[in-house]
Amino acid sequence: MNDFAFTGGRPDPDTFPTEKLIEASAKALQNLGGNLVNYPGDNGYQGLREVCSLRFKRREGVPLPIDQISITSGSMQSLDLILRNLLEPGDIVLTEELVYSGTLGLLRHLNTNIIGVPLDYVEGLDPDALEDILIDFHHKNIKPKLIYVTPNHQNPTGAILTLERRKRLIELAEKFDLIIVEDDCYGDIDFTPEPIPDSLFKLDQSNRVIYVATFSKILGAGVRLGYFVAKPPYDNIISNDRWDLGTSALSSAIVAEFFRDNLDQHLAITNAVVGAKCRAVTKTLEEHVSDICTWTKPRGGLFLWVDLPEQTNMQKMQTLAAEKGVHFSTGNAFHATGKPIKAIRIAYAYCALDHVADGIRHLCHAIRTAQN
Ligand SMILES: Cc1ncc(COP(=O)(O)O)c(C=O)c1O
Repeated sequence: MNDFAFTGGRPDPDTFPTEKLIEASAKALQNLGGNLVNYPGDNGYQGLREVCSLRFKRREGVPLPIDQISITSGSMQSLDLILRNLLEPGDIVLTEELVYSGTLGLLRHLNTNIIGVPLDYVEGLDPDALEDILIDFHHKNIKPKLIYVTPNHQNPTGAILTLERRKRLIELAEKFDLIIVEDDCYGDIDFTPEPIPDSLFKLDQSNRVIYVATFSKILGAGVRLGYFVAKPPYDNIISNDRWDLGTSALSSAIVAEFFRDNLDQHLAITNAVVGAKCRAVTKTLEEHVSDICTWTKPRGGLFLWVDLPEQTNMQKMQTLAAEKGVHFSTGNAFHATGKPIKAIRIAYAYCALDHVADGIRHLCHAIRTAQN
């Protein structure tokens, strides 16, 4: 039986640049040699920080401050360090109402109070709703500490926060003294030539945005390289409870060697393949369930969100799909309060292009059969 894996935000395995990374490894080892006896330290390997800065400049027109970048084991370690060091149990944290399940798990583990802010599937977090929530807390004399957002190709909806909403979000953060954690995992995965709006980090004038990004989604999660950028005083606070002595300089140097010359070319190749898979999903959904479901039409990122009819028997649908080897994520995993919702997330980049249509056809059949 085929394995139609639509779970987990993984890139396309067939465009993983194995040969080029073998070459990059040889160069990296040659350059580093005996320097590898040293600990990399909290900020991590300088060559990779330079690449992170160039990567940002490519899209945003300005570099990241190299001395304020810290390399971590995936962006999950960045989030772990940021949230663990800035938050205390009981603190109120705002997120989009539908949000990355890993961040939710971490926030729950830290015993914080998660408040979901409604979002639009296209335009992202609703600033009017955010303002109402913040005013309400203010009247109760309660001060939320931090808001976590994914402005670009949001996980799980694919929404892109509009420039106007980004500006409103920053204004509200200033007015109510909130720290913003901007998770930019997916900004470089875009199937169109249209620029996306400026990052919150770039727009921020009052030093309240901490920026997080990763190489997991454009290269591979197994590489485990991510990073965050925090200016004083946040840099020290965040590193206060970090004990691993830094992230592998060897893997950092290999990835830096590869991306220094290949970023544009690599993104052109991978985005073309992932975009084709996304279109194959939407086309198949259109052919089979357009009368009963609605779904997002992402211009980038790795995810598509499908709203199902209210009467859908979720358990039955999952079982039927699994019998055909089709796996995906159910909506409740991404809801700020874990509310059971009739929706699913399809992560389309991993499954082979030739198999996508078959897998989604099986899924559509399972959706139809699960209408009670
Ligand atoms: C929004 C978001 N942030 C962070 C992560 C963690 O990724 P990694 O630790 O591999 O960089 C993910 C993974 O799916 C994600 O979707």
